[in-house]
Amino acid sequence: MESTSVTILAIESSCDETSCAVCRDGVILSNIIAGQAVHEQYGGVVPELASRAHMQNIVPVVDAALKKADCTLSSLQAIAFTQSPGLIGSLLVGSQFAKSLALALDIPLLAVHHMQAHVLANLIPGPSSGPVPEPQPLPSFPFLCLTVSGGHTQIVRCNSPLDMEVMGTTLDDAAGEAFDKSAKLLGLPYPGGPLIDQYAREGDPTRFSFPEPQIPGLNFSFSGLKTAILYFIQDHTAKDPGFIAANLADICASIQARIVSILLNKLKKAARETGIPDLCIAGGVSANSGLRKAFRAMGAREGWNTFIPPFEYCTDNAAMIAITGYFKYLAGDFAPLTTSASARMEW
Ligand code: KG4
Ligand code: ZN
Repeated sequence: MESTSVTILAIESSCDETSCAVCRDGVILSNIIAGQAVHEQYGGVVPELASRAHMQNIVPVVDAALKKADCTLSSLQAIAFTQSPGLIGSLLVGSQFAKSLALALDIPLLAVHHMQAHVLANLIPGPSSGPVPEPQPLPSFPFLCLTVSGGHTQIVRCNSPLDMEVMGTTLDDAAGEAFDKSAKLLGLPYPGGPLIDQYAREGDPTRFSFPEPQIPGLNFSFSGLKTAILYFIQDHTAKDPGFIAANLADICASIQARIVSILLNKLKKAARETGIPDLCIAGGVSANSGLRKAFRAMGAREGWNTFIPPFEYCTDNAAMIAITGYFKYLAGDFAPLTTSASARMEW
């Protein structure tokens, strides 16, 4: 008897992680992620070097994902890939690889929007490895998602897996950039977000005060905060060159607390305005321990049901591309082989 299960291989290559995942009927069987250390010495992602690293990584990463899922190419029903947004050279490596596989295997292609996939990471039932997880409660529709990554900051209303609206977005820097640029000003290496998180754990978040911008509606702005941090560091180091080293944990904790309060105050506004009780966070910055804790605490005060993806599905990963591809497969939303990657795309 022919099997009715759907096995999808997904590729993510939008920035500096090469990732491949295999999912069967919405359950993630493998999620392999290869990072790119080459960018550290440059203080940011160098697009040309990212494309080259994707070229080197993609075959071993796909191979490892298939092996871990105990799966062969001939058992796949579709290939999903990140179409947009991202670095065009990086996206092209993943998209061309996905198109070639779909052509060679004569199976459908699923073009996935990276930001939509970050939101749907909240619908993945449990981590891809380790002990079989207890079934996790998943958000009900409609839910709100605060998506915070290196390039985007959005409040999204998700009505169904493929029906989402952006209710608010950043007018300048993204939340991840606010973390990374602050870290750079403090002399920390790229990407600075996880380091600020690490130092902040030992620091006093009330020690230094940074401004909260007054932006109407549900939009965000982080450029004023960046300027305030720049002047703060310049003023203090002019008086005491050892100021940063002596106060690093408190500075990191104070910066993190302000970024988190900017994000969560807007999310609270969106939740109160819509009355939607299921709230999620997603994207690389949702790995931040201060944000996770404050989000849960605000949820408890406001009476929300709060959802946070496992760590491996917060930063860039192919599992979220696979789950989004799965919903597209069920909806028959296939992409032609003539489709192309794009650095920017509305959705
Ligand atoms: O979603 P993501 O992996 O890639 C993009 O789509 O941009 O997000 C990367 C961003 C970077 O800015 C990185 O510094 C930030 O997520 N990030 C964090 C943490 N982990 C990653 N920011 C603060 N705290 C963290 N623990
Ligand atoms: Zn991302």
